[in-house]
Amino acid sequence: MDFEHVHAYDTQMQKLRDIKKETENIIESINLTSDKTVLEIGTGTGNFAIEAAKHCAKVIAIDVSSEMLKFAQHKTKMKGITNIEFHHTGFLTYEHHAGPLDAVVSQLVLHHLPDFWKFIALKRIFEMLKEGGKFYLRDTVYSFDIDNHKIFFDNLIDGVKHAAGVELANDIEIAIREEYTTLDWIMEGLLTRAGFSIDKADYSEGFMAVYVCTKVDR
Ligand SMILES: C[S@@+](CC[C@H](N)C(=O)[O-])C[C@H]1O[C@@H](n2cnc3c(N)ncnc32)[C@H](O)[C@@H]1O
Repeated sequence: MDFEHVHAYDTQMQKLRDIKKETENIIESINLTSDKTVLEIGTGTGNFAIEAAKHCAKVIAIDVSSEMLKFAQHKTKMKGITNIEFHHTGFLTYEHHAGPLDAVVSQLVLHHLPDFWKFIALKRIFEMLKEGGKFYLRDTVYSFDIDNHKIFFDNLIDGVKHAAGVELANDIEIAIREEYTTLDWIMEGLLTRAGFSIDKADYSEGFMAVYVCTKVDR
C-alpha cells in the first residue's frame, strides 16, 4: 500500500467512524490509566494509539505494513506525542520482552488470519498479558442467520454502496470472498480455549463484534 492509499484509508476512517468515541469506550473497557502499558496490534494509521497515549504510560503499536507505520509515526510526531513505540511486526511475530502487559487492543485486524492462526495469535496475546490483564478485540465476525447468507451479503454490499460509495463496497465484496471473518461461536471458542474469560461479547449488524476479555487465574 503506498502513501496515497494509506492517506485515503485514514480520511475514510475519520469520516465513517467516531474515532474519539470508539477510543473513549476502549479506554474505559480496559481500565487504561496513567501508569499502564497497552499493546495495539494492527495500529494502521495510529488513531487509537495516539488517543490512548494521552491516557497511559506507554503504547506499543505494531503493524505488518511499513507504509501504515510510517504514516502513524508521522502523525504521532506532528502531535508532539512521545510515548508510543512503533514496531514493524504482527500477531504471529511480535516478541514481547518487557514486563507483562496491562492490556492488548486490536481492531479490524484478526480477520486477516485463518482460524488456526487466529488461535495461535490469541494464545500469544494471552501469554503477553499480566494476570487480570485486559484484551479488547473488535473485528468482523458473522452472527447473522447463515441459511440466508446470500441475501445478507447482497444487502450488506448494497448498503455500503449507498452509504459510502462503490469503492468501499468493492473492498467489502473482496473481503467477504478472500478474508477470514469467522463465526461468533467459533470466535468465542477460540477466545476461551486460549484461556480468556469473556466479560462482554457485543454483536452488531450481523458482521461486527466487540469482545472485552480478561486473563484470569484458572
Ligand atoms: C483495516 S486496518 C485496521 C487499522 C486500525 N486498527 C483501525 O482500526 O483503523 C488493518 C490493519 O491490520 C494490519 N495487519 C494485517 N495483518 C496483520 C498482522 N498479521 N499483524 C498485525 N497487523 C496486521 C494491516 O497492515 C492494517 O494496517
